[in-house]
Amino acid sequence: MKPEFKDWLTACQSRIEQKLDHWLPATNIHPTRLHEAMRYAVLGGGKRIRPLLVYATGDALGVEEEALDGPACAVEFIHVYSLVHDDLPAMDDDDLRRGKPTCHKAFDDPTAILAGDALQTLAFHVLARDPAIQTDAGARLKMIETLALATGSRGMAGGQAIDLAAVGHALTLAELEDMHIHKTGALIRASVILGALSLPGVDHTLLERLDRYAKCIGLAFQIRDDIIDIESDTTTLGKTQGADAARNKPTYPTLLGMAEAKQRALDLHLEALWCLNGLDERADPLRWIAGYIVERIS
Ligand code: IPE
Ligand code: IPE
Ligand code: MG
Ligand code: MG
Ligand code: MG
Repeated sequence: MKPEFKDWLTACQSRIEQKLDHWLPATNIHPTRLHEAMRYAVLGGGKRIRPLLVYATGDALGVEEEALDGPACAVEFIHVYSLVHDDLPAMDDDDLRRGKPTCHKAFDDPTAILAGDALQTLAFHVLARDPAIQTDAGARLKMIETLALATGSRGMAGGQAIDLAAVGHALTLAELEDMHIHKTGALIRASVILGALSLPGVDHTLLERLDRYAKCIGLAFQIRDDIIDIESDTTTLGKTQGADAARNKPTYPTLLGMAEAKQRALDLHLEALWCLNGLDERADPLRWIAGYIVERIS
């Protein structure tokens, strides 16, 4: 990893940790066990790719970081909610997440369900409330709408429904891609769009170009997730290696073979970089993240 990217990444990760901590209710506030579970799931782990995308997009457009903190927290709260529910026995039934017991293992199933519910609404609370968001009310509302669509039945939740229905079935490549685009791509796309909407009066053509970049890396992200589920060990992943095969999940490597799955991720990486042509060096973090997504081992 290039040293400039490493520094940028570390700075953003520590910034987002503080901001998430700020918005999460304290553990001495009633109902304390629910707040403990929310903090347990959110804090102290994860790559924070979605917040990084909010900051990187905002940086590319010259938006002040204070204005990006709220959208960055919102996308991470939605993401963590999706992970907490994804790990439940009724879904993927996983015991390990971010190198520690999953939320329902550390607490219990009902608490994990409620922690996910509360994190989801906290995301929208932050977007509605954060005084540092600099856009007008119309753009703020557009952010809320974008995140709602990306999270709901036509976005992430819909993708999760497709995923569960697909267990044990052979999907076509188009069906597999559709599942990935929804369950993972939608929120990654929303992260970039929220970063862009943080610039008051952002140009529509630019927004479309960034959206295309985000579509490419969103799909590449889940292809890579499927690959590392096979290739990385449990300690590196912080989640159980081989969980997809154990649960008979259709994945890119099972459908295409490992070499072709990797090639597809690399093709998407190149397309993502192409979408950034014409943007100056302030867009470098977006370029770095695209590379990181297809090279990551965890
Ligand atoms: C895992 O996401 C779930 C998917 C959408 C593939 P991440 O790999 O971003 O998980 P964390 O946030 O780093 O733990
Ligand atoms: C999860 O996909 C996508 C969401 C949580 C929305 P996976 O089920 O592949 O994620 P991991 O591998 O458990 O992190
Ligand atoms: Mg899943
Ligand atoms: Mg899972
Ligand atoms: Mg996975």
